[in-house]
Amino acid sequence: MGRVIAVAGKGGTGKTTTACLVTRYLAKSPHNPILAVDADPNSNLGETMGIDVTKTVGDIREDFMKDPQGLPQGMDKVNYLEMLMNQVLIERKEFDLLVMGRQEGTGCYCMVNNILNRFSEQLSKSYTYLVVDNEAGMEHLSRRTSGRVDMLLLITDYSLRGLRALKRIHDMLGGLKLDIREKGMIVTRAPAQLNDAFMAEASAIGVPIIGIIPDDPMLLDFDMEKKSLMDLPDESPSVAAVNAMMDKIMPL
Ligand SMILES: Nc1ncnc2c1ncn2[C@@H]1O[C@H](COP(=O)(O)OP(=O)(O)OP(=O)(O)O)[C@@H](O)[C@H]1O
Ligand SMILES: [Mg+2]
Repeated sequence: MGRVIAVAGKGGTGKTTTACLVTRYLAKSPHNPILAVDADPNSNLGETMGIDVTKTVGDIREDFMKDPQGLPQGMDKVNYLEMLMNQVLIERKEFDLLVMGRQEGTGCYCMVNNILNRFSEQLSKSYTYLVVDNEAGMEHLSRRTSGRVDMLLLITDYSLRGLRALKRIHDMLGGLKLDIREKGMIVTRAPAQLNDAFMAEASAIGVPIIGIIPDDPMLLDFDMEKKSLMDLPDESPSVAAVNAMMDKIMPL
């Protein structure tokens, strides 16, 4: 199974941006093939990558449950769901994208979920790296996969309040069924030199700071122009910061 890199952190701190830029780094490295996974029910990783996502894994489940017996001729449930999953997988030259979408409504979805989970596990074996974008906590991730995370990137903005929120998320992770191997903190929209008060509060969390992403006006420009962050120039401050961080943390 590919190595899993996932992001967590308070809303709006830069999780999706970071997931996109980490995917960008890996896609341009010799570490291909890469699978980006959008596990945030309010999916928008595709948008940052300039990809128009029309169908999610959640949509497949909903469609299937409307008529569980309505299988195409000669197909069983497993084949059929696998075929639908393959349709949801978006393939690009440098990376693929899978969008999980919304959680199920009421009713028993266990059988479908089991099949979809097994397929996800199988799929993840085809990639060197999986980059998983999440909602603030990581509840979906912990419910849907084997729960192994090789590198968890804990994202915070440059504020003490942000750090406290991150600490709460960090404390909560222990209660989830996740097997987290390594953790690193990333501070976004921050000056290169973090002040003492911030450093003191950050060190109390006990996760090393592995990256500082400066405020990058190009992110706003690209958003406004509906351009993919995958196409940001290497010189853009956020890309340069993520690339430098990845150079340091990637096993050779
Ligand atoms: N380093 C940065 N410089 C400037 N703007 C940034 C930076 N990082 C993120 N942003 C902007 O902040 C907003 C929120 O970023 P992003 O969507 O990545 O956060 P998020 O943590 O994924 O949010 P959510 O919790 O809603 O999913 C976006 O408009 C993004 O462009
Ligand atoms: Mg996000």
